[in-house]
Amino acid sequence: MRWSSSILCLLSGLLVSAQDAPQVFTQASNDSLLWGAYRPNVYFGLRSRLPTSLTTALMWSRAEHYETMANTFRYTCEQHSGIKGYGWDVYDPRTGGVQTIRDQENGIDLETSFVKFDEGRGGWGARIKGTVRDDAQPGSGSQNGVKEQLKTMLLFTVGVEGERSVSKVVDTEAANDNGFKGDVTIEGQGESMGPFRITITEPESNSHPVHNHPSYQAKPLDRTYVHSMMMPQEALWQGKALAFRSMKATIDQYGEEYTENTMPPPWQTYTISHEPGAGNVHLIQKSYDGDFQFDVFFTPSTQGIQPTSKDLTKAIQKVTEDFNAKYAAVLAPQAPFTGKQYLPFSKALFSNLIGGIGYFHGEHLVDRSYAPEYEEENEAFHFATAEARARNQQKVEGPYTLYTSVPSRPFFPRGFLWDEGFHLLPILDFDPEVAMQIVSSWFEGLMDEDGWIPREVILGQEAASKVPAEFQVQYPHYANPPTLFMVLEALLDKAKYGSGENALDQGLLKAWLERLYPLLQRNYEWYRETQYGDLKGYDRGEIRSRKEGYRWRGRTPQHILTSGLDDYPRAQPPHPGELHTDLLSWIGMMTRALRRVASFLGQSDDAEKYGKTLEAIKRNVDDLHWDQGNRTYCDVTVDDFEESIHVCHKGYISLFPFLTGLMGPEHKHLGAMLDLIADENELWSPFGIRSLSKSDELYGTEENYWRSPVWMNINYLVLENLLRIAEISGPHAPRATRMYTALRQNLVSTVYRGWEKTGFAWEQYNPESGEGQRTQHFTGWTSLVVKMMAMPETPVVGRAGGRHDEL
Ligand SMILES: *[C@@H]1O[C@H](CO)[C@@H](O)[C@H](O)[C@H]1NC(C)=O
Ligand SMILES: *[C@@H]1O[C@H](CO)[C@@H](O)[C@H](O)[C@H]1NC(C)=O
Repeated sequence: MRWSSSILCLLSGLLVSAQDAPQVFTQASNDSLLWGAYRPNVYFGLRSRLPTSLTTALMWSRAEHYETMANTFRYTCEQHSGIKGYGWDVYDPRTGGVQTIRDQENGIDLETSFVKFDEGRGGWGARIKGTVRDDAQPGSGSQNGVKEQLKTMLLFTVGVEGERSVSKVVDTEAANDNGFKGDVTIEGQGESMGPFRITITEPESNSHPVHNHPSYQAKPLDRTYVHSMMMPQEALWQGKALAFRSMKATIDQYGEEYTENTMPPPWQTYTISHEPGAGNVHLIQKSYDGDFQFDVFFTPSTQGIQPTSKDLTKAIQKVTEDFNAKYAAVLAPQAPFTGKQYLPFSKALFSNLIGGIGYFHGEHLVDRSYAPEYEEENEAFHFATAEARARNQQKVEGPYTLYTSVPSRPFFPRGFLWDEGFHLLPILDFDPEVAMQIVSSWFEGLMDEDGWIPREVILGQEAASKVPAEFQVQYPHYANPPTLFMVLEALLDKAKYGSGENALDQGLLKAWLERLYPLLQRNYEWYRETQYGDLKGYDRGEIRSRKEGYRWRGRTPQHILTSGLDDYPRAQPPHPGELHTDLLSWIGMMTRALRRVASFLGQSDDAEKYGKTLEAIKRNVDDLHWDQGNRTYCDVTVDDFEESIHVCHKGYISLFPFLTGLMGPEHKHLGAMLDLIADENELWSPFGIRSLSKSDELYGTEENYWRSPVWMNINYLVLENLLRIAEISGPHAPRATRMYTALRQNLVSTVYRGWEKTGFAWEQYNPESGEGQRTQHFTGWTSLVVKMMAMPETPVVGRAGGRHDEL
């Protein structure tokens, strides 16, 4: 009877399209997302989601000493730079936001605001406001106190991408050799953008360094200098290098005319050449004494009416108010985190996560040699794969486009597959469609014909500039945790249970998933076909499925970078007979997500098929990976007699069947999972759940990356699954409730304390001291703390919702 069901499918497909299925990603929705702070790797960088765009960035430095001037010149986000915290305090990708940069070393606090006019169709405005810090130290020659005298030099850069784009500074006659007295306007025509105009204002209220020095011919610094130049496309993003190149003319000139002792002060010397005109990069330089403020207006035409600074002030206020109202409705911290200190903390972490969304376009390096060594089928395969990689078969591919958020603006300003699923969990609470656009971008823009998605996405030279050469090549046999499937489940939950501000239209979700479904299936099949484990070649004992067991490719003795848990202890030496607990669990999660998508779309045959696979996976999790003696889940390898043996290092790996929601409230090993989590000699610390058991012989050893530190992404999964167990009546519900409450308190306090003390969120936390460590300003998955705060204080047994019905 297959024909009849397919005819029915066909008919229902026709019916849906005839009824005007809700359109996903409408023009209006796209317009509101067109412009953004889509260059997360610079402190304040705007661009559009067009492959060739106008791009802007801000650079600045205190200008009173030659040495500090060069060292504290800010452009790209950097760690440990003398900045006491920075990031968006509020940010909505559809309307704009406000960022604060506490630049202690330069003695100045900057506030950079960005707002869109007319829901994105009317261009945008930006405000750059500087306030001398109370702790600023006096510079040389300050008479009236540091408040008035602190000298700051700023450069605003405008780049116009595209070989066929043109732009020029308007009204160059208004400027003479001594710079512009008032506003600077640039007009042009972008290859994919169309006509535009951008104006950088100079309000009269600002103070500038004076220039009546007897011993040299001063450049008047109450003027704005503009240097327009024509550069190769790949140089457009290199603002700092271009600025220093332009300043060199002045530096050389003074160098010839003056000695070291009579040399004009740095704020005179570090000035760019004034050459306004046509070009594809325009540097705009301003010098100030004390506090200052100026605005930038972008209009998507050369005729349109430009908003005023008053309009901008109002718009910034409105964006902030609207953001606050929306945030309170969807992510407000719940007790005991209702004290007034938690809300700004929560908003700042979230805003920097969502304000870190970037638009990346360009080429990357892929090794598509498909060398036989990459099958990793022989013993000691890691020597052979190292040789194959050393043959350097990578080629440039692309250009590709990716719309994604990033783990850390200073250190990882690019897409990471396994981080992204975690990033999107808070983002979809605030704006599910933005999360859907990002998921689409990964599957539609990046996945290849085989269903492979690179795990680290380094598109274009700007992105590549922060990655050492040996890590740039991507390999199409390498996997990574398929976390985007967690996002699908969260979206399904939202459509099913969300209401009010938390609702998601089911028709919209359906229309989107219809389109995505074949791509999801292709990706899923790719995982199953390339990362299979060998269940037939070795004696595996009693197992109920001959198919469901998996092995990460790309391992070395020290690392399985592809698993995301880089140095977590695994079997030694690497062996082709290995089976990995985490990968089987991830594929279980993927299978469940696909089953839910299939039944949501009415694909009942598929749903049934995925349901069977899911059952087989759940059985094999226990048959292959449960170690009765150690009472935990363990990886598997084979011994000298080709027999399966367990390799047990208690820690995150042991928890994976629990973390991925494969264990229901009645599961026979759930008690053991809770014992392991709650044991202070194993995983429980006052700062969160440790990555490796304190009792493991490798605890805290070598790189100690995933061998003790507390990671917020995995802790979020622990917390979420404790909540789930707590809310369904079962033998472990009371205990799960107690653990949930204590863990939530510990995690939030840890991240909050680190933020309060250092001004930053961190990549991971020390399980002994609770200190933040490794990457600074890690507002990627550490921002899951905002979801933890928004979770209920007390679980309510019997509450409907979420994946409860899946257990
Ligand atoms: C909106 O943008 C998305 C992603 O770039 C694209 O797939 C879609 O076609 C756009 N929608 C419209 C109506 O142009
Ligand atoms: C626990 O696991 C290790 C393998 O890592 C194994 O050698 C040991 O025998 C196990 N203990 C028990 C009691 O089964």
